Amino acid sequence: AGEGDPAILEVQDWTRYLGDGVQARPYGVPSEFEAHVVRRDVEWLTAATESSVNFTPIHELDGIITPNGLCFERHHAGIAEIDPADHRLMINGLVDQPLVFTMEDLKRLPRENRVYFLECAANSGMEWRGSQLNGAQYTHGMVHCVMYTGVPLRTILGEAGIKASGKWVLAEGADASVMTRSIPIEKAVDDCLVAFMMNGEALRPEQGYPLRLVVPGWEGNMWVKWLRRIEVGDLPWHQREETSKYTDLLPNGKARRFTWVMDVKSVITSPSPQMPISHGPGPLVISGLAWSGNGRITRVDVSLDGGRNWRRARIDGPSLPKALHRFYLDIDWDGRDLLLQSRAIDEDGFVQPSKEELRAVRGENSIYHNNGIQTWHVKPDGSSENVEVS
Ligand code: MTE
Ligand code: CO
Repeated sequence: AGEGDPAILEVQDWTRYLGDGVQARPYGVPSEFEAHVVRRDVEWLTAATESSVNFTPIHELDGIITPNGLCFERHHAGIAEIDPADHRLMINGLVDQPLVFTMEDLKRLPRENRVYFLECAANSGMEWRGSQLNGAQYTHGMVHCVMYTGVPLRTILGEAGIKASGKWVLAEGADASVMTRSIPIEKAVDDCLVAFMMNGEALRPEQGYPLRLVVPGWEGNMWVKWLRRIEVGDLPWHQREETSKYTDLLPNGKARRFTWVMDVKSVITSPSPQMPISHGPGPLVISGLAWSGNGRITRVDVSLDGGRNWRRARIDGPSLPKALHRFYLDIDWDGRDLLLQSRAIDEDGFVQPSKEELRAVRGENSIYHNNGIQTWHVKPDGSSENVEVS
């Protein structure tokens, strides 16, 4: 801003007139100037909106928490609109005492607060055979991270009593897809939550109101929304979502059974195709997200030249296991082309692979579990494009 700036010299309307009073917006909404920050879908991706996906606008967000209204949605049969008074959670199968909980019953059990990312196994799936979608929202936006409040699944199963033969649980949703997934009992009693709140308020209908399963670090498909039943069994059920879907087809024609953990991954959210650099050379904040289903992110490196040289980025904000991490690299931009990449390393020592390394192992038939390194070609005019380098 410089001399003769009307933003300084003139009295603005918002200074001249009284604003809206309290209660003008009993449930707050963002400024009208942020109206472009919304979930978006890709129309050609699916035939119908009821079995579709939209994407978190990660390029516009900062920090590690996703606002509830911007969490991406993935539905197999649309959003179930459930009156909590009519919702029940049944525990049955290999238990000493089958039980049915009302929402009121669940809210009388000891609860916990935990921050976790949820990533759909299909996130970045459209990029398997080459760069395709122009924007971090579309290439990496099937992820969100919120604080859940819920009852450990361990507590609920403990009330019913797991029989010695009980080795697996089947989680079942109440929506029209009646989505089901098998989960090994070790995970069920480790860190799974039966959650009813996100970011301090009730779950949104899109996210499974009034009840969803939280399966930290594991693929989003297992996080059954509108959760209505947990069955204990001795073997996995091999339902649709764990056989014909959400399995990874390898080059030899065999499909991998059960790929649960979401591997270490990162992406630069700004600058990116939807977030051009709006200023000239000089100070530039490069920002992005990193996460791992194994636990914490210990390090993120950023390359400005397509992976030849790497600089260590600065992780800022809470570093919580199985949660998004925010990183920054503050540079002095010379105004020239950049081939921006980020590479994350997790506490188990896993290093995010290049897309070439990933394809060498997995071939090109996959959709799910693409955690390859993303490249943005930033141009002198500040715009950027989704590219691949080799
Ligand atoms: N649970 C039910 N009952 N129905 C669904 O369609 N979609 C799954 C999972 N749980 C789904 C579901 C998939 S594939 C993902 S990635 C996550 O929910 C998405 O959660 P979100 O919509 O809160 O982002
Ligand atoms: Co999914």
